[in-house]
Amino acid sequence: MATVVVTGRLPDETLGALRDAGHEVRAWEHDGPVPRDQLLALVEGADALVTLVTERVDAELLDAAGPGVRVVANVAVGYDNVDVPVCADRGVVVTNTPGVLRRPPQTWRWRWSSCPRAGWARPSGSCGRGRSGSGVCSYAALLGRGLQGRTLGIVGLGGIGRATARRARAFGMHILYTGRRDAPSDVVEELGARRVELAELLEAGDVVSMHLPYSAATHHLVGADELARLGPTSYLVNTARGPVVDEEALVHALQEGTIAGAGLDVYEHEPRVHPGLLELENVVLLPHVGSATVETRTGMALLAARNVVAVLAGEDPVTPVG
Ligand code: DGY
Repeated sequence: MATVVVTGRLPDETLGALRDAGHEVRAWEHDGPVPRDQLLALVEGADALVTLVTERVDAELLDAAGPGVRVVANVAVGYDNVDVPVCADRGVVVTNTPGVLRRPPQTWRWRWSSCPRAGWARPSGSCGRGRSGSGVCSYAALLGRGLQGRTLGIVGLGGIGRATARRARAFGMHILYTGRRDAPSDVVEELGARRVELAELLEAGDVVSMHLPYSAATHHLVGADELARLGPTSYLVNTARGPVVDEEALVHALQEGTIAGAGLDVYEHEPRVHPGLLELENVVLLPHVGSATVETRTGMALLAARNVVAVLAGEDPVTPVG
């Protein structure tokens, strides 16, 4: 029997899958991320770790766990929280959860600060009370831009980028993408997607959506210069990892109208959100919930459990990273 430490609250099925395979499960059972000092104590003597993106998996954590750890199963597609070379040096297998996370964010925090509850929104004085007293908005109030015929630029046409592009096609958008290599020809054909350099993608994109992993190479991939290329009628969406965008530069661009707006699910210094973002009306902020459907979160957690069970049984992991 091996000891599997689970560093966050996961669906019962996941813990059940691990116990059914004969393992002892030690799980952090409180809401929110486990504080570091408690995490270091929790992992002691573990054979396997099931981790969330909120936990840094590094030499210190592996030392605290001890020499028995054979696998780190990260419950996320992204694994920038895991020091993969350090794990590899110690012969610890690292896995992630690709192929489950397919849905872009479906909820928005709508900023009603200027909108009285009993009436219509009143942006910039464009609304007024009608004779009926029911509240009337001007014809031009709250106008946005349609997506039909516009261009979506996808930075990173992996599984999630493709899923986003498919949905955008349903809105009649044209797809450009940038990435390290050409996408497979069937994907290019299905999406009618054209590969371009980042600069061209930013200049042509009405919406640019980030879908690439975070690493030293992608740190601040989008900064002040790139936002200037995007321009005052275009939008930036980041559901990947916060630090791929220079958040300070983004706040400035949103304040100055260098770009039209942004939709963010991730932040450079999570869980802290740049205070400048909270003041703005041209940004939609979500608290890293891109994967937050019952189906996706359950699927990711079960995949992490399958990886642990496979490695502890001496088999190949299902979805190793690297
Ligand atoms: C992922 O899968 O990388 C998500 O960001 C985790 O919620």
